[in-house]
Amino acid sequence: MRTHYCGQVTESLIDQQVTVAGWVHRRRDHGGVIFIDLRDREGLVQVVVNPDTPEVFAKAERLRAECVLKITGKVVARTEGTINPNMVTGKIEIVAADLDVLSMAEPIPFQLDEKNVGEETRLKYRYIDLRREEMQKTLKLRYHVTRTMRRYLDDNGFMDMETPILTKSTPEGARDYLVPSRTHANKFFALPQSPQLFKQLLMMSGFDRYYQITRCFRDEDLRADRQPEFTQLDIETSFMDEESVMEVMEGLVKTIFKETIGVEFDYKFQRMPYSEAIQKYGIDRPDLRINMQLVDVADLLQDIDFKVFSGPAQDPKGRVAALKVPGGATMSRKEIDEYTKFVSIYGAKGLAYIKVNDLSAGIDGLQSPIVKFFPDQVMEIMARVEAKDGDIVFFGADKAKVVNEALGALRVKIGEDLNMINGRFRPLWVVDFPMFEEDEKTARVAAVHHPFTQPKATTEEILNHKDPVQLLSRAYDLVINGLEVGGGSVRIHDTHMQAAIFKLLGISDEEAQDKFGFLLNALKYGCPPHAGMAFGLDRLVMILGNIDSIRDVIAFPKTQSAACLLTEAPGLVADSQLAELALRFRKFGQEKA
Ligand code: AMO
Ligand code: AMP
Repeated sequence: MRTHYCGQVTESLIDQQVTVAGWVHRRRDHGGVIFIDLRDREGLVQVVVNPDTPEVFAKAERLRAECVLKITGKVVARTEGTINPNMVTGKIEIVAADLDVLSMAEPIPFQLDEKNVGEETRLKYRYIDLRREEMQKTLKLRYHVTRTMRRYLDDNGFMDMETPILTKSTPEGARDYLVPSRTHANKFFALPQSPQLFKQLLMMSGFDRYYQITRCFRDEDLRADRQPEFTQLDIETSFMDEESVMEVMEGLVKTIFKETIGVEFDYKFQRMPYSEAIQKYGIDRPDLRINMQLVDVADLLQDIDFKVFSGPAQDPKGRVAALKVPGGATMSRKEIDEYTKFVSIYGAKGLAYIKVNDLSAGIDGLQSPIVKFFPDQVMEIMARVEAKDGDIVFFGADKAKVVNEALGALRVKIGEDLNMINGRFRPLWVVDFPMFEEDEKTARVAAVHHPFTQPKATTEEILNHKDPVQLLSRAYDLVINGLEVGGGSVRIHDTHMQAAIFKLLGISDEEAQDKFGFLLNALKYGCPPHAGMAFGLDRLVMILGNIDSIRDVIAFPKTQSAACLLTEAPGLVADSQLAELALRFRKFGQEKA
């Protein structure tokens, strides 16, 4: 049908006859001569239609943008002034001798080079949106990433294996998507939140090194980096500890960066314990490109009269921290008010600040509504945060969780607003996570990763520990530029230890048998020590392509409210289908009936 891709017709083909096929990107009528920019996957080529081929000319006159054509013609050099140095095909054009209209196009809902097309329109007409150069570039990048992943993992002895999509619940911390069973009335499959348990079983079956690029499903609140249906590169290995897993995974990430965007890391990725990340950045996925840190000052403020600070300073679960913004003293009242509003999203009750105008004048050189409450301590605080003239120092005082989230987010927000982002990529391994966290709703402990993660403790130590939230786990996360790109752990490979963890999590023997009986049984019949990791493919592509929204790296994504505007899914189904599934149809408004 064609001899070349449009985007590949270059000067080496001058004087040859070629046949190309693609979409009409643009059509220009230059009084007597018609120019068509024809587009396909590989790019654009200019086609000239002259009136001395009247049949072809008549067809070209009726064309609209996005019609699909097949064109045969001779490649000729463009004349001097008409060369386009920005186009690969800019030195030539094709003189059309034959033109077939393979498909006409109605007027399209938006032009491909139109800026600011609403996302709803883009998603509704996704097949057109995907024709845009940017989307073509991103999805090609995504393909290059998965191709590189496969090649690296194949070279390192990993086998690509599949696991079920219709399965039982896997606890990764989100709500399940459920699928009713027709053949088992009132019973449901769950879509996998990850292949976690199956990949562990594959290790028990002796496959040694597994990988899969697979879809995971999580019914959770969506954000700019979260989709209900997303893709993981999922990996599991036997007889490897965290060190060797991290080494192989780091090699994988470096290979991906090098082969897809030409970025080389000639150093070992930095490691940071979870506790240090929280202390310095307020978050377990710090963006290290921003050179600001939280500094604790509670010890200096316990006995002052200002309750807003002394209260949290005395509270074992409280935190009082300072965040110095170099050069920030020029901030206006309005800007400070806006940042105060910003931190209130995270529950902060205010945002105290000190503008450092002239340190040599001591307390008189500080401008602030709060220094009057702790005149004796303020200069020591200034010294501790290494304040300089022209800086502003913000303060958070509350429960540690609130201060961490508020100042952690403020640090990133100000870093972005004031252009304080240094360098392109800052990868970081976060290690030594706590095994458990307190669940405020249930007043019990919950697993920070999943409950199959191995703690840094023996079974006896786990069972006898006075304060289990102090236990650390053998888990690791890979963070790049403040985004959690992947995470994994060494797994429990011992029945007793697994039972001890379930016990601590408040999962009864009965419930454990019901939910994970197959895993507990499998552990009894010869289980190798094993460890693994999963990368969020979508997030990795976001980072590599410098793309802000996860929806822009997925061909057919869901909206913020977990709907597909293109197919209008989820949709209603026929009563007969519900009856087959033994489900009762409830009319809107009768949910409680
Ligand atoms: P985890 O839950 O950390 O680990 O998921 C691994 C990675 O998947 C990505 N990710 C998401 N991406 C887009 N949308 C989402 N809703 C979403 N949720 C997670 C993140 C994350 O780092 N089974 C374990 C892995 C293991 O222990 O081997 C797991 O699923 O980039
Ligand atoms: P107030 O005494 O409530 O007027 O607060 C005095 C200053 O402290 C204001 O700048 C508030 O924004 C700030 N502030 C109030 N509560 C907090 C808090 N929990 N953490 C940090 N700053 C606060």
